[in-house]
Amino acid sequence: MVFCILLSLFSLFTDAISSSVYVSAFSLVNDFHVLVSLKQGFLSPKPALTSWNSSNPSSVCSWAGVLCSQDRVVSLDLTDFDLGGSASAQVSRLDMLTNLSCRK
Ligand SMILES: *[C@@H]1O[C@H](CO)[C@@H](O)[C@H](O)[C@H]1NC(C)=O
Ligand SMILES: *[C@@H]1O[C@H](CO)[C@@H](O)[C@H](O)[C@H]1NC(C)=O
Repeated sequence: MVFCILLSLFSLFTDAISSSVYVSAFSLVNDFHVLVSLKQGFLSPKPALTSWNSSNPSSVCSWAGVLCSQDRVVSLDLTDFDLGGSASAQVSRLDMLTNLSCRK
């Protein structure tokens, strides 16, 4: 539950941050690094995240729960992953993210 609340909180700041600090850095590679850092913040169990291959940036759009549009991550659905831990503040750098689901 803490995890979900943190995610919601950070997503509120996405627009504000993306319009200033990180503008030139945004790309799918940026999204990849953000998701890798998110994965590192999750506590086990992580078997649902085995498709999150941190050595293959170009595979990010085929990772479980990740939806891309025009080569950017636009949706993150972690509903069925049974994740614990905290979400990195990095999630705010997913500037094209419009849908974030973490629990049913
Ligand atoms: C992850 O990606 C690397 C580089 O493409 C590849 O060599 C490796 O087999 C992949 N690992 C998994 C578990 O898919
Ligand atoms: C967000 O993702 C969830 C889970 O995939 C889906 O049920 C929901 O319809 C999506 N919402 C929007 C606004 O796309």
